[in-house]
Amino acid sequence: MMIDPLKVGVTTARRPSPAEEADAREVAEREGFIFRPRRGRSRTALLAGDPAKGEAPLDVLIVVTPERVEAYTAGEEAGGDRPGGRRGGCGPLFFHPNMAKLRIQRLRHGGGDPMVAAMGLERGMHVLDCTAGLGADAVVASFVCGEEGKVVGWESSPVVACVIREGMARYRQPARSELPELVAAIRRVRVERRDHREGLKELPDGAFDIVYFDPMFRRPLLESEALLPLRLFADPRPLTPEVLAEAKRVARRRVVVKDRAEGEELDRLGLPVRHGGGNSRIVYGIWTRSGG
Ligand SMILES: C[S@@+](CC[C@H](N)C(=O)[O-])C[C@H]1O[C@@H](n2cnc3c(N)ncnc32)[C@H](O)[C@@H]1O
Repeated sequence: MMIDPLKVGVTTARRPSPAEEADAREVAEREGFIFRPRRGRSRTALLAGDPAKGEAPLDVLIVVTPERVEAYTAGEEAGGDRPGGRRGGCGPLFFHPNMAKLRIQRLRHGGGDPMVAAMGLERGMHVLDCTAGLGADAVVASFVCGEEGKVVGWESSPVVACVIREGMARYRQPARSELPELVAAIRRVRVERRDHREGLKELPDGAFDIVYFDPMFRRPLLESEALLPLRLFADPRPLTPEVLAEAKRVARRRVVVKDRAEGEELDRLGLPVRHGGGNSRIVYGIWTRSGG
């Protein structure tokens, strides 16, 4: 979905405090979106707008609360105003660390992670995730790199970038959680709204140890429900050979590209070295700088 930022609105929960309204206004301003005061209205009414008040219809509505940031599209209202309201199995887009959490738990117990292995990732490394998406890979990388490391996530979709950045900032761990490293890893990820086709060209040689790509698959796998909303807002363009060449210049050690197990995209991009995922439906293409 190509998104016009002028058709993206930001609002609050139904009955916001003045501080919550100020927070939502600030998010709208920072992102270049429209602020739409809630005034007790349903999401459907907010998306439709009120012509009498000079409000045009919106394509996307982002609801900002102290706990969560959720993006809805106009077709998504059958679920009502419940958080996580559903429409035909596709709910709103929001940040949730469940996938990253499972992987971090496995790593903490001495298990492996195919992405971490493909990157040859170690504490203290600097990682540029050129396709941040829902942020799971970036959070896992941040856990491994630790406080001495650095993880920057670039995301070109304005809605995805906003939802993930603001969602990460608001994420609080449940009180009885036994994984404090998760929140620390989330907080260390820096998500920026950036198109890697432009951004990489501006970086100096060897700016990051690892440059990572997980572009949208052209033929989606049968994915978990959680990924369906992402597909709605994501930038679907494939990786180009020009981008890969820039990534090789920017990477001090490795460029890693995730693909379906058939590796058709990796063939197209000329990345012959493969690391199979634990999940056999996924493979990682690896370019390593000699001596890296
Ligand atoms: C499959 S998702 C990444 C998922 C992510 N690895 C995770 O763990 O959640 C791919 C993401 O890359 C973004 N993307 C596609 N082309 C991009 C570009 N040129 N620059 C930055 N982000 C891009 C898409 O909008 C989408 O959100």
